[in-house]
Amino acid sequence: MSLLTANKIGKNFGGVVALNDVSLTVDKGEIVGMIGPNGSGKTTFINNLSGIYSPTIGNFIFNEEDITGFEAHIITGKGISRTFQNLRVFPNISVLENILIGLHCKIDISLWDVYFRFLKTRKIEAQAREKAMKVLEIANLTDSHDTLAKNLPYGKQRLLEICRAIVSDPYLLLLDEPCAGMNPVEMDDLADFIKILQKRGITVFVIEHNMRFIMSVAERLIVLANGSKFAEGTPTQIQNDKKVQAIYLGDEGDL
Ligand SMILES: Nc1ncnc2c1ncn2[C@@H]1O[C@H](COP(=O)(O)OP(=O)(O)OP(=O)(O)O)[C@@H](O)[C@H]1O
Ligand SMILES: [Mg+2]
Repeated sequence: MSLLTANKIGKNFGGVVALNDVSLTVDKGEIVGMIGPNGSGKTTFINNLSGIYSPTIGNFIFNEEDITGFEAHIITGKGISRTFQNLRVFPNISVLENILIGLHCKIDISLWDVYFRFLKTRKIEAQAREKAMKVLEIANLTDSHDTLAKNLPYGKQRLLEICRAIVSDPYLLLLDEPCAGMNPVEMDDLADFIKILQKRGITVFVIEHNMRFIMSVAERLIVLANGSKFAEGTPTQIQNDKKVQAIYLGDEGDL
């Protein structure tokens, strides 16, 4: 049984057909990569899946439930978390506070509770901090928990974003170009981190242009071109696919 099934997803923006008839599945525990030239619809695909947009046509079945068109916070609550193509850490608060923001969908505290700082509130806050510290430990960021996010090296800021996405214990993590702007050492650290997340039971769907990275981390690749699914296979199959090589000619992500 697939964790996620996308059935014939289409998305139009006015006259622009950003996605056309895209069907795919992601099994529990997999690391699936999505590649494709600029403008091929990769971000649009996860924007539709994560509730930023609704597909024009088609549906998403997640954990056997049709989640098509649900609002983003509902989808997060169902167990799909994501990061964005552009870095979105909150620069002027600490690393730990950045992570705590990722827990807001799980914390059930009323304004009343907060105002009076009831015992319940203090207990929930303590549990949230403990949870956030555990996630920082997985990413080797424990020593930086008090640092302002803007003072972390760039690669660590990107790891921090992923930490914020996983603190809510998602089943499925969507990453949109997590390597952008990273140096090769940071990319290797990120690849290791993603594999650790997989071992901890998180299924990962990762969009990436960097071929060295995606080939090292993904078990299966889906190629988009002009909004349609163009190819699918193991990294080696995709790397050797002449049709795929042709669509990348002239693109920054040459295979
Ligand atoms: N909100 C929007 N309004 C209008 N057109 C959009 C919108 N979002 C995406 N598009 C268009 O949809 C197409 C696919 O864009 P998308 O951002 O999904 O591509 P991408 O594969 O993620 O590209 P990149 O590799 O550059 O990030 C493009 O033609 C883009 O201009
Ligand atoms: Mg994109």
